[in-house]
Amino acid sequence: MGEGLADQRPEFNANGREWRTAPLWGIGLTQATSGHTHFLHDGRARSLTEAILWHGGEAQAARDRFTQLDKPQRDALIAFLESL
Ligand code: HEM
Repeated sequence: MGEGLADQRPEFNANGREWRTAPLWGIGLTQATSGHTHFLHDGRARSLTEAILWHGGEAQAARDRFTQLDKPQRDALIAFLESL
């Protein structure tokens, strides 16, 4: 996921910049079920938008495409994530 998320702490077969791909199903219920909206492996992202913007490495292209969307398109993507 790139240098931005890397902690350089390998774990089993994962090197220090590889993370388990999080299941997105139910992510819109995070506030209701967990009482917060913090995302990514260490909770650094305060919103879904911030979580997407931390994507790097193999996910850099997806992050870059997100930044090229206009606001209604970004809002639609976030609404979709929250509906999963
Ligand atoms: C439009 C495309 C994408 C969206 C909207 C998206 C969204 C998200 C969100 C919201 C999270 C946080 C999940 C959580 O904390 O529970 C996440 C995490 C993650 N995503 Fe994506 N993602 C996208 C594309 C990708 C791609 C292309 C890859 C890999 C090639 C990827 C790999 C990951 C990984 C490994 C994590 C966990 C990172 C960590 O915990 O630090 N994602 N994604």
